[in-house]
Amino acid sequence: MIDTQTIRIQETPNSRINELDENNIPFGKLYSDHMFMADYKDGEWQDLRIEPYQNISVSPANTTLHYAITIFEGLKAYRNPQGEVVVFRPQANAKRLNISAERMCIPDVPESLFMEALTELIKLDSSWVPSAPNTSLYIRPFVFGTDEYIGIRPSENFRFMIITCPVGAYYSQPVNVKIETEFSRAFEGGTGFAKAGGNYAASLYPAKLAQEQGFHQLIWTDGKNHEYIEESGTMNVMFIIDNTLITAPASGTILKGITRESVLTIARDWGVKVEERPVAVKEIIAAAKEGRLKEAFGVGTAATIAPIAKIGFENEVYELDDSQRDFSAKILKELNDIRTGIIEDKYGWTYKV
Ligand code: COI
Repeated sequence: MIDTQTIRIQETPNSRINELDENNIPFGKLYSDHMFMADYKDGEWQDLRIEPYQNISVSPANTTLHYAITIFEGLKAYRNPQGEVVVFRPQANAKRLNISAERMCIPDVPESLFMEALTELIKLDSSWVPSAPNTSLYIRPFVFGTDEYIGIRPSENFRFMIITCPVGAYYSQPVNVKIETEFSRAFEGGTGFAKAGGNYAASLYPAKLAQEQGFHQLIWTDGKNHEYIEESGTMNVMFIIDNTLITAPASGTILKGITRESVLTIARDWGVKVEERPVAVKEIIAAAKEGRLKEAFGVGTAATIAPIAKIGFENEVYELDDSQRDFSAKILKELNDIRTGIIEDKYGWTYKV
């Protein structure tokens, strides 16, 4: 356990909390007063500190600027009816960060360091956790290489940081997605399972092309033959065909979403038939044509549960019937009620700060 005494805290004399309007929070634009930082040098994490949120400086030869040696996580804190602050499944994020870290030659961040850093930061900025419906404090832990070196080799020095920002909805309306069959997000043996910055950078150009065609996002397909559904960049994707909940298995090419796992756990508990298996594009299109595709939705930390309104595939657009969104509406309410402490958390998912 890292001793909290080792985290130096420098409080800001100029809080910006009055810039927060809980009823109008754009995603990712306004950051809380403080940030956590630690540096990895000589084989250990050191200089643990919380400082006022501010720009940081890096060398122009910084290894991450050139080669994307960076990983991140996303999780959220909520305010419960007693006014306390609870974080949803932070230990799961700590574990996943280290899975990404190994793939990118980044040192482990011990779970105890992750938890202490997060706890102290959220305690200090607890007034930034909003309480309006559908709002939360988005927490962004990330690690990046800090070597001043433009040769290619794993970095030797790193920084671990946590910043936070109050957020409302990521998507303000049901999303229109295009099934991508030309570009690939990931391939066997690649970094698809890791939350690595480069995965997101590589997704931008295909997503931009889809946006020019009127879609919000892509549904990625397998990098080999584009026959199977993978994920949707910022979220995992689920389908209800007849009465079965179907989603792709979290393989080496798909991010193992924590919201994904939470939804599957609750659905199984409810007795819903769940299938985690390869999902063929042609199966989804056939079900859509036959009226058996009841629901499609994205699941992710930022997006929560994002209903899909339209699916584009090969110049056709399949519209989903919005009166059938029973499961996604019910699971969203259940998740929200667990996260905000409105109902009992029988899974032990919430962590009180
Ligand atoms: C999250 O859901 O936390 C994500 O990582 C999505 C983010 C890229 C906005």
